[in-house]
Amino acid sequence: MSEKNVSEGAALWHGRFDSAPADELMAYTESLSFDKRLWVDDIFGSKAHVTMLISVGIMSKDDGDKVLSALDAVAQEFASNTFVFEASDEDIHTAIERRVTQIAGEPGGRIHTGRSRNDQVATAIRLWCKREVRIVRDFVLALVDTLEARAQEADANNPAIRLPGYTHVQHAQPVLLSHHLRAHAWAMLRDADRLADALERLDVSPLGAGALAGSSLPLNPSVSAQEMGFATTFANSLDAVSDRDFVAEILFDIALLGVHLSRIGEEWVLWTSAEFGFASLDDAYATGSSMLPQKKNADIAELARGKAGRLIGNLTGVLAMLKGLPLAYNRDLQEDKEPLFDSVDQVRRALIALNGMIATAQKHWLRLISQSG
Ligand code: ARG
Repeated sequence: MSEKNVSEGAALWHGRFDSAPADELMAYTESLSFDKRLWVDDIFGSKAHVTMLISVGIMSKDDGDKVLSALDAVAQEFASNTFVFEASDEDIHTAIERRVTQIAGEPGGRIHTGRSRNDQVATAIRLWCKREVRIVRDFVLALVDTLEARAQEADANNPAIRLPGYTHVQHAQPVLLSHHLRAHAWAMLRDADRLADALERLDVSPLGAGALAGSSLPLNPSVSAQEMGFATTFANSLDAVSDRDFVAEILFDIALLGVHLSRIGEEWVLWTSAEFGFASLDDAYATGSSMLPQKKNADIAELARGKAGRLIGNLTGVLAMLKGLPLAYNRDLQEDKEPLFDSVDQVRRALIALNGMIATAQKHWLRLISQSG
């Protein structure tokens, strides 16, 4: 290994090694590039940890207050986009700890007392999920509301709008358009239920589990759990640091939600075609072709269909990552974050775009009204 392949700035855990980490090691193992977004959650969890350390007398009130205000200062830096990362920052957790120590001096270093990155990471992801999954659920319910509004509008037409009900893509029986739209709404209410259920199960604080077996210090994990608003505290420390069931569960809920959105998408691609002509998209929610001006494409509906593939992929990727892991923490678990973030981001955008597309689609349902008479 040539000297220039070795980083100057040492990572926090490098104190006991003789040489600095190789650039290749840092480049391959870092997670900062994607876990930066956990800064709010890491700081929130760190403040709860310090409050707990003060409450049980492991940290003096004086030192604790210095660390707490340093954490607030770091939050300010992130909020104002002035936080400066260093080459040795391996992930968001080490970056924040490094900065807290720079600001608070020696007491800052004590923030890690009785805590490992293993319980710290598990805490931050659970906090992130608690916030983000609620938002996804709200967007699901907003789409349900739109479907219901369009259903009521279809029934208010005189006569109520009907469309051919299909089996095997063959005309089967006429059905009310409201009945059809509500069928999708029911599926999405189940999605919202599943997300609420996942939120309940993930509402457990892993903080205090340490690297894998807690600490010999008289920690009180229920103080930090309460401080963070978790419903309860972990029962088994090995499980607490290695459990990513909640990630898999959220990814499943989102994958199934994505499948439902994909089925809606497929129908709207058909419905807006010249052959079906059941609906037409508002210009703001359609794309066109400069070469073929007669075309109005339902790209939102197509992408809702297309992106379901990656939502399913994110779920299967995490399940495959988990299946061979011995207890307790293994670095593999770092691979939970990108699929989780991606699925949450993607499904949020899909819900918002489909909602706008369906809410604004032209109300005349031309062929349907003429068939309804
Ligand atoms: N970035 C890592 C993760 O996301 C941090 C955990 C590292 N822990 C450790 N003991 N090396 O999982």
